[in-house]
This record gives sequence, structure tokens and C-alpha cells, in this order.
Amino acid sequence: MISKEQEQSIRELLEKMTVEEKVGQMHQLAPSIVGGFDVSFEELIEMVTDGRISNEEFGKIMSTAERDFHEEDIRAGRVGSYLLNDPKKANELQRIAVEESRLGIPLLYGFDVIHGFRTTFPIPLAETCTWNEKLFEASAEIAAREASAYGIKWTFAPMVDIARDARWGRISESAGEDPYLGSLFARAKVRGFQGKNPADRERIGATLKHFVAYGAVEGGQDYNTVSMSKSMLHNGFLPPVKAAVEEGAMTVMAAFNDYNGVPCTVNPYLLRTVLKESYGFQGFVVSDANAIRECVSHGIAEDLADASRQAVKAGMDMDMGSNVYHDHLVSQMEQGEVSMEVLDEAVRRILTVKMALGLFEHPYVEEERMEQYDSGLKEEHLEAARDTAKRSIVLLKNEGVLPLKKEQKIALVGALADDGENCLGAWFANGRGSECVTVKAGLERAGAKVSYGECCGVESELDREALESVCKEADVVVAVVGEPNAMSGEASSRADITLPGHQRELLEAALETGKPVVAVLMNGRPLALFWEQEHVPAILESWQLGVAHGDAVAAVLFGEYNPSGKLCATFPAMTGQCPRYYNHPNTGRPGGRSKFTSRYLDAPVEPLYPFGYGLSYTEFSYENMRIKEDARCFSVTVQVKNTGACPGEETAQLYLRDVTASIVRPVKELKAFEKVLLAPGEAKDVTFVIDKKEMGFYNEDMNYCLEDGKFIFYAGGNSRDCLEQERMVAFS
Ligand code: GLC
Repeated sequence: MISKEQEQSIRELLEKMTVEEKVGQMHQLAPSIVGGFDVSFEELIEMVTDGRISNEEFGKIMSTAERDFHEEDIRAGRVGSYLLNDPKKANELQRIAVEESRLGIPLLYGFDVIHGFRTTFPIPLAETCTWNEKLFEASAEIAAREASAYGIKWTFAPMVDIARDARWGRISESAGEDPYLGSLFARAKVRGFQGKNPADRERIGATLKHFVAYGAVEGGQDYNTVSMSKSMLHNGFLPPVKAAVEEGAMTVMAAFNDYNGVPCTVNPYLLRTVLKESYGFQGFVVSDANAIRECVSHGIAEDLADASRQAVKAGMDMDMGSNVYHDHLVSQMEQGEVSMEVLDEAVRRILTVKMALGLFEHPYVEEERMEQYDSGLKEEHLEAARDTAKRSIVLLKNEGVLPLKKEQKIALVGALADDGENCLGAWFANGRGSECVTVKAGLERAGAKVSYGECCGVESELDREALESVCKEADVVVAVVGEPNAMSGEASSRADITLPGHQRELLEAALETGKPVVAVLMNGRPLALFWEQEHVPAILESWQLGVAHGDAVAAVLFGEYNPSGKLCATFPAMTGQCPRYYNHPNTGRPGGRSKFTSRYLDAPVEPLYPFGYGLSYTEFSYENMRIKEDARCFSVTVQVKNTGACPGEETAQLYLRDVTASIVRPVKELKAFEKVLLAPGEAKDVTFVIDKKEMGFYNEDMNYCLEDGKFIFYAGGNSRDCLEQERMVAFS
């Protein structure tokens, strides 16, 4: 990460530092809100959460809040990092740290830059449906360019949690359920944020979060407990972390949850054995917000002093926002509860990252850099957002209704159709709802004949009269339904993941007009759409696509862009099927028609839309699968043909099953995919190459096993409809 000379200067700095200054480096804080509005801060948070005020109104109020920036602590060298998104203030505080503290160690500014900073891109769950590493990397590079202009040198992203439960609100921030696709996403994001040299002015440090298995919280309930075997952890949840550490990620954020009874925040197996020793991670680990303090609530620490020593000994290098290190670690050192070696290792890691980010050479941000983005968005960035947005859209159903024609008269209904704020999704940083192209605006910009009537909000009643009126002259009804930002992201798990409020009634009423109906979904998770799949002739998943939402939807609705997105997370038929994911074990009684198999009495056996699924305006066939083997790998070739009437892009997928092994293995695992653009009638051979080393698994003793035996290769356009061939494989 840094040169030998830089390592030497860190050693020399460490020798000069007092214990208090060392602990200071391990302390991250944010400005404390001390007042300035006529309700309490907690009340204000309630108001924005339940929608009484918009995010933009909240932002305006917060900008006038009185804050304590803890200048004295900074001057005394007791602060190492700051959660701040304000370049002017950042420079002011940085001047105190660099020019007024005893050793002049610069502050590290971090912020949540998850899917864009000023130019908001699709939420990660949507962007992953492009299955396009170049797009994953490009959006992170643009976000880094914009965030660094605001003095942010470290993002708490990418979120690399494998998410298998659609009830969990944070699935929206994830790359979905698959370790292979999730690993490509994680690597690409690290490259995009950090570049080849994170010290470059327009690059920022990445954070792999949340370490680990946060996506497996029991019941999909946020912050809940996590229990799973070590083999499941290493085969199903750790691959994206391992991949991103190999890619050079500079920091890792520990997850709120416990893993098998030991909170990740104080878990030496995870933080030291796996991350720092086995993976050789050289950066630093930061806690999640307030998580060290919460170890008392977990019941693993008697008090905050106990929490502070357990955390630092377990390998937790920086405390985000709990003040526990700030308040207790110096006394723990004085009492001999923590060795200087443990403390020095944490501080060395933090200083190494600061050095690698170039903070010692360039601690300040040129405030004029921000101006280029503050007044508006760069066209180059907007174009990238438009391209990614349209490729993130997944066509779920189409019974001859789409694409629409410009001469058709469209009745556009649903409050979300004219709502810029809810195009942003969760964690939209400095994105602005007012800059988002809504579905309504997108259709109008595309020259469509649109008459709009809200008719039904996410949580308001259906206005049947308004619906009948707006649909009267229409040729087709486009109903935009789904979730607002606040129904996904952190602390937003849902026990029922059908369309919220009365939106299904809106669809029913639209169908009763007798006109063709297109449901355009805007949501931050897979929804349970069993009724919709049965009754609505066309369903388009448009997620929350950010600033270009409406342009992307219009491009797909009118066929200007033939939808190519493929799901990265399974859509259950009903909430009760959750958690639902494709790469599951077979069990002794795999779900089938018989009662005595693994299934529900009151739900179908299969999910509604499987992993990897996505329709096109054309169709593709898969034929003539053949397999070649050499000493190192298998090459699987299949002919993909466009059998429809328009050009289209297909993501051909290759899955593998290890049929018999020393532990039960998933019925399918994604091992490769290739994109192919085909004209009508055109056919191409697509070849996938699997290195034999990638065909193994970790057993319970953490040994990576390649076991001879029967394997099945699957090739197709999703994880369900595939050609297959068996092979006996001998690795030795
Ligand atoms: C939150 C989230 C984490 C985020 C952090 C800082 O609680 O869990 O993902 O990066 O706090 O905002």
C-alpha cells in the first residue's frame, strides 16, 4: 500500500506519539447537533422518516442547526477521522489538525458515497442487474471524482453483503445473492473508487462493508442475529470480501450483527484470523456507527471499558461515533489491560491508509473544485447515468403490450410517476430529487402523448373517479407503483413485501378499464408480485435509477432501448417464501408436487422470478452445448440465437453443480457469464471457461477441497431454464 520510506516515517511518527494521540487516531466523530431548531433532533429524524418533511426540507433545517465540531479535541490530537460532507468546514478543521496540533497528523474525512455523490446512479441492486463490470467501475470512478471535490477522501462503500432475504431493507444497497457476481461487483467498485493510486486527487479510499454476513440477519430483520456454519460463511458470504481485499481495498467496516454469538465488532476470528491473517488485509477496520458501544447491549461487554478493550484486542482499529475509545482506551492502557503492541498495530494501519491516500502531502481540498458540481451536473456524468440506468431495467413480463408506440395515448397514473425524490433510492449523498427525471418527465421528453393523474399514492387511498377520467381517452395505461426511498435501506425491513398501501387496487381499477396495463415498478427490493404476475399483462422493474430514471424508463417503454437487465436477486412469489435464493442445497426431499417434500401448503414451490431472469423484446434460444476439458480448465460452448424480430443483448450464464461431495453443495452456482449482441436471426457460439481451481469449496475445517466426482454444467439465459450436461471430473 505504501513505500518502505513511508513505512519508516510512520514508525518514526509512532515513536513520537503519546498514548492519547494514538487513541486519538482511532476516534472518528461527526459534528454533534446541539440545537438550532424548535424540535428535538430525535423528533426531526422521526419527521423525515415518516415523511412529514422531505429529505430536502430536512437538509435545509439541518444546514441551520447549531453544531459542536470539537475543535479542542482536534487541536489536542484526539481525533483521527471525521464523518463530514462540507469542504469549507473540512478545510477549517483540517487546518487545526495540521497546523495547530502537536504532530500535525491530518484528519481523514469519510462519507457514505454508495451509488453516486452529486450524480445519483441506480441503487446497487439495480446496477448489478446490468451484469457489467465496466459500468460498476465507471459509476464508482465518477462518484469518487465528485466526492473528492467536496473534501471526502474515503467512502463507506461498496456494500458487499450477500443478500438472500428480500424482507431486509438493505438488500437495496447490495449486489444481490450471488458470490460470483458479488465478487466482480466488489472488485470493480474498489478499482473505481481507488484507481491505481488512491492518492490521486480524484480518487477516494473504499470500505468493504458490512463485515460479515449482515445480509443473513434472522427473518430479514435489520440488526438481528446471524448464525451459520463456517463452510456456508466461506462459500456463500465471504467471497466478495476476499476478492475486494485482493483488489486492494483500503478499509473494512465491521457489521452490527453477531456471528454465531460473537458480535463482528469484537470477533477476533473474523477480524484477525480471517481478514488480517488469512486474507492478509493491510488496511484498517472501522466499526459501524456506535457499534462498539452497542456491545454492552449485545451482552458481550459488561460496560464501555470492557467493550473498548475487547474491540481493540479483536482487531477493531477505529471507533465510528461511539466515543468509547476516546473515553476509555487511555485508562485501559494505563491499567495495563491493553498492550502497546495492540494499540500500535491499530494506529499503524490507520496512518498507513492516510499515507496511501496522500493526506500528508495534500491534506486540503481546493474549495473551487466543488463549484463545478454545486450548480449542476456534468453532461458526461449524466450520460453515464442514463446508460447505466436503462441497462439496469429488467423486463419481468410482456404479453404483447410493450414496446409502446409514440402515437398511443398514454394514461399515466401513480404518485411515484411524478416524484423525483423517490427516484434516488436509499443513501443518495448530495443527489437532489429536483434534478431527477421522473417517469412523467421522461415520457414527455420522449414526445409521448401523456395524460397524468396521481390517482393513488404509496400510502393514500385510490381515487377511482380520477382514474376513470384520466383513462377514458387512453389507448394504454402506465401505472407506476412501488416503494418510496424510506421503505428500503437501513432500518427498513418489511414483514410483508407486497406492493404497499392501495397500489394493487390501482392496478385492479386500471385493468377494469379494459385498456392494456403496464406496471412500472419503482422499489428497493424484490417484491412479492404473485397477484400482479397473474393479472397484469406487462411488468417492468425500474428500481430506483437515480437522476436519469425517467429517461431510462421512456427509452425502454418505447423500445428505443431493448431491455437487457437480469435479476441479481430472486423474486419470491409470496413474502412467506423468504429467504429465497437460487444457490440452495437440494435437501433430501427437494420441493415438488408431493406433499412430503420441502414446500409450503399455501405457496408455489418455485419463486416468481429466478436469479438471472430478465426478458427482452426479442427471444433467444440455446442449442448445441458441448464441453471440452484440458489439464487446467473446462470450456463450455453453446450456440445462442436471436429467434425474434429485433436486435437484443443477452447475458448467457453458466452454472455448475457438484453433485456429491463431503458437504452438501448448492444445486447451482454461477461460474461465468458472457454478453452477446445479436441481430434478428443471428446465432453465435458463446464459450465459457472455468478454471478447475474454481470448482472447489471450503469445508467446515476451512480447507479448500477439490473432490473428484460427478458435476453438472448448466447454460442458459437464467438460473432456471438451462441446457445441461454431466461430466465425471478427476482433479488429480
Ligand atoms: C450506518 C450504516 C453504515 C454507514 C454508517 C455511516 O449505520 O450501517 O452502512 O456507512 O452508519 O453512515
